[in-house]
Amino acid sequence: MPTTDPQLMDKIVSLCKRRGFVFQASEIYGGIGNTYDYGPLGVELLRNVKNSWWQRTVTLRSDVVGLDSAIIQNPKTWETSGHVQGFTDPMVDCKKCKSRFRADKLEDARCPERPSKKPGECGGELTEPRAFNLMFKTNIGAAESTSSVAYLRPETAQGIFLNFLNVLQSSRVKPPFGIAQIGKSFRNEITPGNFVFRTREFEQCEMEFFVPPAQNEQWYEYWRKERLQWYLDLGFDPSKLRMREHDKSELAHYSTGTTDIEYEYPFGWGELEGIACRTDFDLKRHAEASGVDLRYFDPETKERYFPYVIEPAGGINRIALTSMIDGYAEEQVEGETRAVLRFHPEIAPITVGVFPLVKKEGMPEKALEIEKELRRARLSTYYDQSAAIGRRYRRQDEIGTPFCVTIDGDTLKDDVVTVRHRDSMQQERVKVAELRAYLAGAIASWKRPATA
Ligand code: GAP
Repeated sequence: MPTTDPQLMDKIVSLCKRRGFVFQASEIYGGIGNTYDYGPLGVELLRNVKNSWWQRTVTLRSDVVGLDSAIIQNPKTWETSGHVQGFTDPMVDCKKCKSRFRADKLEDARCPERPSKKPGECGGELTEPRAFNLMFKTNIGAAESTSSVAYLRPETAQGIFLNFLNVLQSSRVKPPFGIAQIGKSFRNEITPGNFVFRTREFEQCEMEFFVPPAQNEQWYEYWRKERLQWYLDLGFDPSKLRMREHDKSELAHYSTGTTDIEYEYPFGWGELEGIACRTDFDLKRHAEASGVDLRYFDPETKERYFPYVIEPAGGINRIALTSMIDGYAEEQVEGETRAVLRFHPEIAPITVGVFPLVKKEGMPEKALEIEKELRRARLSTYYDQSAAIGRRYRRQDEIGTPFCVTIDGDTLKDDVVTVRHRDSMQQERVKVAELRAYLAGAIASWKRPATA
């Protein structure tokens, strides 16, 4: 399938709605600009992506701890971090239709009234660009005054810097070490779009890795490699991933170097995750503004210093969307088209479909018993007894279920089931007593199919 296939995105959007991954938020009221809700399968996918990230970044490491900080922090946080002043996009208005566009993304934008034209080419004059702050404002307390203004966080990172000292004092950590967090962030994006790729409310997975300044380069290199490897281990197509170093003009106000891991989406290359050198910018600024000494005291060298920070920052919703785009394929099988989502089994919303071959002769009862066993083994299952078996396989293929277990007449005699693999469509006979171990092995050894 060509990488710029515009239909691919439409197919993903339609599948998301039809099978319960993603719904337009407030749909019965006509929706609300680029805001989405996640349905039963979508919520499982998001949860599995978060678990996979957390395990890789925190659980499997001894040098990273977790945090869950508040969405609304003291507004001084955002003044100090530079977001009140500098977290802006250049915005222009069309004087004719009053639509607003990002001045630096006009090439990709379309006039809402004449979608074949770019903004400014539709006869409407554009205003001069002006800075538009992306933070959502809110008010704290009963009175709406300027002194009660607060912000919904536009990144989770600042909550980590605010708690640097708390973590240092409460946990046995010393640089190099990291603090990881997954949580919602909010940005009043001027031109959100491409489905859930860019939305106003989204979940981030961020980690601030604090290092002695002299080790900055070595850890930057380490995290660039490690983060790319995670996507490869999830089975993402290597030919659709690339590392792109920001040039000076693109760097965020806090960064001396940033690399984006980019993916080739149906709408072109886009950022999947950024790995930034934030130096000691944030800790130093918060120390100055709060008057609290946020330096680390090294008991061995007796030196007090601000650690430098390497920050891998990704978006859970974007990773989930990318896993769908990357995993989607259509194949001709037995004269019909099968749509399949080749998720890594660890992130697939359903791990095992369980089917009785027919709805009689004790097969449904046996299938339900096996399904219950698999659930107790903490596997996410789906029981289905309706329609022909081939049709049931196709339904699971389309939502990315890696394994299906079929109970037939022989199962009742010999306690052996058929395990059918999503990717190869091959079937194997497995003893019920060995099913859990068999599936655990298949999940652990899963590899992206060579033909994908
Ligand atoms: N703390 C650094 C930071 O927030 P960022 O590149 O602005 O860096 C990190 O955001 C990641 O968050 C992005 O790579 C992307 O995956 C995700 N992200 C950012 N804005 C988003 C939006 N409007 N909608 C969905 N995901 C977004």
